Amino acid sequence: MSARLVSASAPGAIKEAARILRESGLVVLPTETVYGLGANACDGRAVAKIFEAKGRPSFNPLIVHVTGPAMARELVHADDRAEIVMERFWPGPLTLVLPRRAGSPVSDLCSAGLPTLALRMPAHPVMQAVLKASALPVAAPSANKSGNLSPTTPAHVVASLGNDVDLILAAGACTIGLESTVLDLSGDQPAILRLGSVTAKDLKAVLDTDIPYDPGTPDKPTSPGQILRHYAPRTPLRLNAVDVTPEEALLAFGSLRFMGIKGGGAASQLPADRLRNLSETGDLHEAAANLFRMLHDLDASGATRIAAMNIPEKDLGMAINDRLRRAAGAVE
Ligand code: TXA
Ligand code: MG
Repeated sequence: MSARLVSASAPGAIKEAARILRESGLVVLPTETVYGLGANACDGRAVAKIFEAKGRPSFNPLIVHVTGPAMARELVHADDRAEIVMERFWPGPLTLVLPRRAGSPVSDLCSAGLPTLALRMPAHPVMQAVLKASALPVAAPSANKSGNLSPTTPAHVVASLGNDVDLILAAGACTIGLESTVLDLSGDQPAILRLGSVTAKDLKAVLDTDIPYDPGTPDKPTSPGQILRHYAPRTPLRLNAVDVTPEEALLAFGSLRFMGIKGGGAASQLPADRLRNLSETGDLHEAAANLFRMLHDLDASGATRIAAMNIPEKDLGMAINDRLRRAAGAVE
């Protein structure tokens, strides 16, 4: 893939970006905070490409960018506090974490399997125009390789991501240059999860309550009421399974030809609710897109344990394995 760098003001540039997003591609988009690496948030395979391009060894939940409060209300439950904050700070550098709606079309890879979604309406006119033209919610973390600094100019983007995207929409330097403030409104106690240019004081002025900064750690909530930031199934998980017991559910990857049920039978004969295949063809994008939904499904199957087949430790497989190892308790 070779990335094309196009000025956002060039004729047809906005339409082209919207077309690529609709066709499951990756587009680097300017926002007022930092450049974002965007994909259709409703398309799990497209979202998987974001993690691949960033070279992220794990799936972190991503911010989903919306055209405004109306689109937000279709994706999440916005309570009175959320309405007040959207009215006051959107468009702008404030991201809200809110409970997902049951029928929300956003891929659960965006929320790493969590029951919440992080949403932001950006103020940058180019980003707004692309959101409008595509009519899609757009998942977009900062447009840099994992471990690099967040990019605030097109040159930063090119230096970090190079050719791993379909299009870079260039629009000069970002005015704020610091990622958005993340405000968790999913529980009773609002909390700031990431500091940004909208401050606790700004938020207190409209919400009329103190807002603690509570970054937590990825897997351990630091205070009561803080949401678990990463989903893990309740059912114990067994990794690198080469067979499955009758009490287990199977999270498969690739062909089932050599998988048997201990005591007799082929894994393909497992009850339908105890068998999910991340990708029959061994496609890591498809596997990433299916991961959280299938873990949820098998968690609800009543099996005493989930047996997960081996997934190659390369590319997106590393992030999938990271998630599975955490779920298996192999990583703190
Ligand atoms: O300024 C920004 O917000 C930039 C531009 C491109 O808009 N975007 C950005 O996206 O920084 P990203 O995906 O890298 O930000 C993810 C942040 C992390 O701190 C993550 O933990 C938090 O948002 N986050 C996302 N979804 C969450 C959720 N469901 N619950 C809690 N935190 C969440
Ligand atoms: Mg970042």
